[in-house]
Amino acid sequence: MTKKILAVYFTQSGQLGDIIDHFTKPFVSSPDIAVEKVRIYPAKPFPFPWTTSVFFDAMPESVDGVPTALEPFTFKESQYDLIILGYQPWFLSPSIPASSLLQHPLFKKILNNTPVVTISGCRNMWINAQEKVKKQLKEAGANLAGNIALVDRHNNYTSLVTILYWMLTGKKDRKWGIFPQPGVSQADITDSAIFGETVKAHLQKNEWNGLQQHLLQQGAVDVKYNLMFIERKAGRIFSIWSKIISKGKKRSILLVVFKYYLLIALCIAAPIILLVDAVFFKPFLGKRIKKQKEYYAGVALR
Ligand SMILES: Cc1cc2nc3c(=O)[nH]c(=O)nc-3n(C[C@H](O)[C@H](O)[C@H](O)COP(=O)(O)O)c2cc1C
Repeated sequence: MTKKILAVYFTQSGQLGDIIDHFTKPFVSSPDIAVEKVRIYPAKPFPFPWTTSVFFDAMPESVDGVPTALEPFTFKESQYDLIILGYQPWFLSPSIPASSLLQHPLFKKILNNTPVVTISGCRNMWINAQEKVKKQLKEAGANLAGNIALVDRHNNYTSLVTILYWMLTGKKDRKWGIFPQPGVSQADITDSAIFGETVKAHLQKNEWNGLQQHLLQQGAVDVKYNLMFIERKAGRIFSIWSKIISKGKKRSILLVVFKYYLLIALCIAAPIILLVDAVFFKPFLGKRIKKQKEYYAGVALR
């Protein structure tokens, strides 16, 4: 019997669409699998390229998961054998369009009782967003079977410069001819078909236990200690900022303050805190850190 798969995603630059296309290649080439791809669009588009002010203006609603209206979309089936959800983090949370999709009654309905594989394409901080996605999937009654997190593998500060260049100019090329190309590398995007093969093997056996373990063996997820450390702290701080900005009367001024706070926190405070941690704490917390990394690499929800 033909297996029915839905791959649903939002993308601005096309990067996530490219990821979905490569990841689903093994399914598309199988005669016994029918793949339906649905790209979603917000009714009021987010600008691409962004302006700095609109970019930071997306922070509170991203963090608080405030949904925006989506252009109407339909699914051909009422039940699928597998749903592939492609999303990108915005401010350590699922992007506003992705989070709106996760809260949409039509999507929630087809998620119920269905295996889901999530695949994200981001700069390098996806842990917090994935925890929120895990929660929303669970609430919708879905069974998260696998996760793949594609990142920009360059150094955290290099990728910070290049992503801002990309987002604020719309150009995914090498800034000044010096910096590397922003975003997930084309090689990693193309190679995501390997993960697609693994998911396909599990789909054909209808056996989802062990999928994430197989994906981990193939390097589908890499939890880096320093990034995990920063993200866990920043996730909590972003929630406080989003409340202050949403409740405050002078939103545009508060957003400018947040922008400078973020740059200082990332470029000055984070390296100092990481150094202190590396000397006084990390050496004594080996077991706990290993457990944390295993948890974030997995699909279970705490
Ligand atoms: C407003 C905004 C916030 C972002 N925040 C993060 C983030 O917290 N972590 C991260 O790794 N990438 C972040 N990114 C990068 C995106 O996850 C994504 O990789 C990029 O926008 C390209 O996705 P696209 O397929 O929609 O073009 C952000 C991008 C935007 C536009």
